[in-house]
Amino acid sequence: MKIDEKYYRTIWPIPSAASPKNEAIFTVGIIDQTKLPHEFKVLELSTMPEMALAITNMQVRGAPLIGAAAAYGFALAVQTDPSDDYIKHAAQTLINTRPTAVNLQWAIHRMQNRIKDLPIEARQRSAWQEAALICDEDVQINRAIGQHGFKLIQDAYARSNKNTFNILTHCNAGWLATVDWGTALSPIYTAHDAGMNIHVWVDETRPRNQGASLTAWELGKHGIPHTVISDNAGGHLMQHGQVDMVLVGADRVTSQGDVCNKIGTYLKALAAFDNQIPFYAAVPSPTIDWSIQDGLVDIEIEMRHADEVNYMSGLSDEGDIKSIRVTPHHSHAINPAFDVTPAGLVTGIITERGVTSPGQLSQLFN
Ligand code: MRU
Repeated sequence: MKIDEKYYRTIWPIPSAASPKNEAIFTVGIIDQTKLPHEFKVLELSTMPEMALAITNMQVRGAPLIGAAAAYGFALAVQTDPSDDYIKHAAQTLINTRPTAVNLQWAIHRMQNRIKDLPIEARQRSAWQEAALICDEDVQINRAIGQHGFKLIQDAYARSNKNTFNILTHCNAGWLATVDWGTALSPIYTAHDAGMNIHVWVDETRPRNQGASLTAWELGKHGIPHTVISDNAGGHLMQHGQVDMVLVGADRVTSQGDVCNKIGTYLKALAAFDNQIPFYAAVPSPTIDWSIQDGLVDIEIEMRHADEVNYMSGLSDEGDIKSIRVTPHHSHAINPAFDVTPAGLVTGIITERGVTSPGQLSQLFN
């Protein structure tokens, strides 16, 4: 996507020098998402531990992007030391950064498979190639999701007889959460670019406010009309006919179509169900975990630090980023980062292969 006329992906290799053996050496560029929307800052990472920290701290985030970041983190590790022992350590370090989004494990296993039978001296080049391939595929997948989702929006718009089509989204499943295009926002970008009158309700998405900070920023940069709402407002808007579709991303989807996504998604699905509003999840195939069925039982939900609930940060009137405490010091807080929406509440899943009901997901990929 373009930021002020310059094309960006969210992650990219930067050629830095050639090694004595004439092997290309790279660092990796990322956009520091903890600084958005107030500052657009690019970071250059040169080691696997730096990448692991960037994932843990959510400087890079979003299921597809942490898959891509893990792949580049793995390539950085191979560049440092291609031995079996170090690679094993690097893979585990990266896998441990965030447990819920399956893309991360998927990417690491793919990287391991790509190099495991290669001689030591051939590993580095192959690791960089595979990471780049994962990124290119992510862009193609998300573009295809955009086209399938666009068709869905177009049909619903035609049936709605409305001038403006209102879509509610949760968290950030835009281009910042992927390598490019986004998952849930890709159909929205595609529909807007095709001239449709789309308006997006953006859930703020406490505690880290990915909706208010990231989705609102992205949509604004692309000129898409949007309104940020508190997380609690969606049900009310649905009851009053102001939401035509709910469209979210996913961090892990099970073989029976249960959708694990950012905490709060389940409540939106319940409200949508009660108001007969279609609820769709945009899901690239690397987000599907075919090894599990029941999302409520089989998915590890990341518990993040309680201080993400206790504190909020933002721009003060003086122009500084400030962190303020919102809870009493004596109160206990917990911070589950994801929830599971059972397949029965999901109208459909938009994948790169097309749109399907949750129950038919496996047929689409077999
Ligand atoms: O904790 P995050 O910000 O990494 O959460 C992931 C997400 O961005 C959302 O859950 C998103 O809807 C799915 S990723 C496209």
